[in-house]
Amino acid sequence: MHSDVVRAAELLRAGELVAFPTETVYGLGADALNPSAIAKIFAAKGRPADHPLIVHLPPSARLDDWAREVPSGARRLAEAFWPGPLTLILQRQSQVPDQVTGGQDTVALRVPRHPVALDFLEAFGSGIAAPSANRYGRISPTLARHVVEELGSAVSMVLDGGACEVGIESTIVDLSRGEAVLLRPGLIGAERIESVLGRPLSVADALAKPAPRVSGSHAAHYAPGTPLRLVRPDRLREVLNAQRHAGHRCAVIAYSQPAFAESPHVWRMLAADPAGYAHDLYSALRELDSMGLRAIVVELPPEGEAWRAILDRLFRSAAGSGIADDDRL
Ligand code: TXA
Ligand code: MG
Repeated sequence: MHSDVVRAAELLRAGELVAFPTETVYGLGADALNPSAIAKIFAAKGRPADHPLIVHLPPSARLDDWAREVPSGARRLAEAFWPGPLTLILQRQSQVPDQVTGGQDTVALRVPRHPVALDFLEAFGSGIAAPSANRYGRISPTLARHVVEELGSAVSMVLDGGACEVGIESTIVDLSRGEAVLLRPGLIGAERIESVLGRPLSVADALAKPAPRVSGSHAAHYAPGTPLRLVRPDRLREVLNAQRHAGHRCAVIAYSQPAFAESPHVWRMLAADPAGYAHDLYSALRELDSMGLRAIVVELPPEGEAWRAILDRLFRSAAGSGIADDDRL
């Protein structure tokens, strides 16, 4: 086992924070059973203390040590998708501290599949509580460098595992309340989950019934500082031309259209398939956000199930960036 991973596990045992790569995004990890270490996560992120964290487990962990009354559907999902980008919400076992669950009776669990995360979890030998390793409300990091930029000296060590393969956060399914509820869409789509469960998923609707708190479901999340606006492909040229006439330079994230030759704007092309797009989305947003341009104009991806998780993140980014209407552009 790599010496960095051994040292990282020792730091966790000493109650310190270690950022580590997962296949989705980088996490900011602490010993899930140490409340004072957990408190450091909230301080480093600037995150309200009642927002629950995901506990990352080594593949060798016993699910029943962390959750109770585990329904058979949850076991089937774990079997099918762990290690991987799926988080399950289950009734918590009594050893899980209130600081991890935000005082709720449920706990979020996932076994990630990034090789460095797996080594780290095995070296530590217990659960690692970790939110995404960004400051509260900001874009999740997909490179070690992003973590250092966001959190600096607040974290004792950053394990570098290169660029995250998936690039957006895990799918979250709540199985703690009888029915199965999709709380956050992700790369593992609803149909794949439904086919393992053998029944339909319902989708979280905060207005319809009381649901557990999910900070990722707040509209203002995943937000760049630069105003972000989603524009349908057939309107992209018109919007960008109007910006040019007004003397403005924008950043453009597109997937279907080549950069217009006359454009003064800064173009970033992403892949036209959802997995490739997700892989590069956050680093593109981060890079373009740092350029101090008028706005980030994003070519709206297609509607439909395959793009659902990406549309979810883009709509949140737009809402969080504070653009209210077309007049600002
Ligand atoms: O891909 C991911 O899930 C990444 C990597 C690091 O694993 N983690 C991540 O963590 O995105 P975070 O904290 O940024 O988002 C976790 C989401 C939050 O929206 C939180 O509210 C929700 O999971 N959550 C955690 N525990 C919960 C619970 N008991 N009930 C409902 N939602 C919960
Ligand atoms: Mg997060």
